[in-house]
Amino acid sequence: MDQLLIGTVRDHFLEYFRTSPIMVFSPGRVNLIGEHTDYNLGYVLPGAIDKGICMAIQESKTPGCTAIALDLEDTHSFHLDDLKSLDAGGWRNYVMGVVHEIEQRGYKINNFNLVFGGDIPVGAGFSSSAALANAVVIGLHTIFNLGLSKIEMIQISQAAENNFTGVQCGIMDQFASMFGKENHAIFLDCRSLKSELIPLNQHEYEWLLINTGVKHSLADSAYNQRRRSCEVVARALGADSLRDVTREKLAQNRTRIPGKDFQKALFVLEENERVIKAVEAIRKSDFKSLGRLMYESHQGLQMQYEVSCEELDFLVEIARDQDCILGSRMMGGGFGGCTINLVKKDDCDSFLKTASNDYQKRFGKAITSFIVSLSEGCKLIL
Ligand code: GLA
Repeated sequence: MDQLLIGTVRDHFLEYFRTSPIMVFSPGRVNLIGEHTDYNLGYVLPGAIDKGICMAIQESKTPGCTAIALDLEDTHSFHLDDLKSLDAGGWRNYVMGVVHEIEQRGYKINNFNLVFGGDIPVGAGFSSSAALANAVVIGLHTIFNLGLSKIEMIQISQAAENNFTGVQCGIMDQFASMFGKENHAIFLDCRSLKSELIPLNQHEYEWLLINTGVKHSLADSAYNQRRRSCEVVARALGADSLRDVTREKLAQNRTRIPGKDFQKALFVLEENERVIKAVEAIRKSDFKSLGRLMYESHQGLQMQYEVSCEELDFLVEIARDQDCILGSRMMGGGFGGCTINLVKKDDCDSFLKTASNDYQKRFGKAITSFIVSLSEGCKLIL
């Protein structure tokens, strides 16, 4: 957590609103493996990271609510009885979406003001949006004593994204941001929402995130289409979700399912199996196997699920050539954003040099990179 960021956010709040706020830190997340499995009610293996969103929030005695996004130098004022999802509303829709979902569930809140800033890149696949929504819901829960459980809070965050931004995302990002623990990955069953914290001290390796700097403009609609394809296959096989479809059942019905949809459903089933194998590998400190599973996951996301892009594939290919990288894959929804790499600490700098040069040569632009550690989930800062 960045103390300077906390101080800046608090000072701005005091300056603008002249009351003392409560402070919330809400982290972004990485996902080690288990991509596009959450909305299919399967398994994922994410963790919260040491970067995220810091928010100052307090009840307001004046009419209306005001939210300030410090980094974007952007302000939005709205009224609690007039909440509408805005076209291209960006961060505003996450704030108003959470308020809307809280009201929909019958909870009463009063006017409030908030200021937030962050140290995670937006649109790079670190789930800054889930971090923002979680910060708002924790903030409102705290200042208005809503008595929500953590699970209810993340369901509100997810519903805000589903209903106010139109992205039919699963629960992984909100869960990881809320329930993260230092040096642990979260093995989450997205159907039961039961989770297990898996200790992860990878000693001589670290998690290196490389940002392609690409965000595909159709990513959101492509994401929703993938979700629909999976639901159609599940229904055709008499199941509520792909979680209830076995490999055998899928194979027996191959001719009834369009080829591309079959591959997508098969990917989901295989990816669920990879998550379980990855947890076993971590328990045995078998990082070679973990890395291999990451490469397999990328291959599936690229060829079967079709959510990768040239830039992501290029970075994974460079990684494959290097002995110091055990595993590499695209992370998150896809069509841009980051790759996550399991890399030998000592060789990280030299690998980054190679990757930067090659990427610059091929695409004429720079990559950015981050080393992240698995960290605590959302919390109030005292
Ligand atoms: C995005 C969504 C998540 C999940 C991933 C893909 O991050 O918000 O719910 O579906 O994509 O695994």
